[in-house]
Amino acid sequence: MLLLALFATAVVAAPSPICKDAFQKAGISSNYNETIAHAIHSMTVEGLQLFDPLATEQNRVPTVNQDLSQVQKVLPNAPHFHTSSNFATQTMNILDKILSTVGNSKDGLGAHWSSVERIAHVFHMWDLWEKIYETSWPEVLMTPPEPTTCVCLKDTRANGIKAAVEWVAKHYETGTPITLLNRPIPKLTDAQSWSVWKQRLLHYYTPEALHDAAIYLYCVTHH
Ligand SMILES: *[C@@H]1O[C@H](CO)[C@@H](O)[C@H](O)[C@H]1NC(C)=O
Repeated sequence: MLLLALFATAVVAAPSPICKDAFQKAGISSNYNETIAHAIHSMTVEGLQLFDPLATEQNRVPTVNQDLSQVQKVLPNAPHFHTSSNFATQTMNILDKILSTVGNSKDGLGAHWSSVERIAHVFHMWDLWEKIYETSWPEVLMTPPEPTTCVCLKDTRANGIKAAVEWVAKHYETGTPITLLNRPIPKLTDAQSWSVWKQRLLHYYTPEALHDAAIYLYCVTHH
């Protein structure tokens, strides 16, 4: 019984009092594990380069493994997202990349996503990163987080961010979660289901969620 209790506390990662204090001072929200995990679960080197043109594959940003058939479901670094340049626009080259993985599911989403859901997901992530860059990023550059905040935020094993990315990877085994709230979501097939998807996709576009993600991205790209 005691052992079980010890195990139960060990799996819920929680920040130390010092980190908790630093997060509070930095204006990081209480559900930062979910807001940040959502922003980075399918991060790519190209996405990081929006915030730091010199970002590489050595970035320490935990992401869902693009190949979910592998044992390791969460990788320690965000991978590249290489597209071809067969088409003239980057949008079409991204669409080419997405549709070229349909059927082998090597796009980090598992087996349950339809083509249109995969397309919505990829462009949603780019859209969110762009939103962070346009809204919270300039504020964070003007008032950068304290070094302690960054040490605490980058320790994703201790602060629960990695666990939340693992939550996402695990739920891709059974469905198409958009938020980390464990709410059922319809298949995206028509305008009615899109209205539900749209609402879910916009869930982490609040100033608080964007601020959490911007601080984390500052820490991983500037320290
Ligand atoms: C995020 O942290 C909260 C508070 O510690 C916890 O209740 C929740 O389960 C965590 N979410 C995930 C997806 O790990």
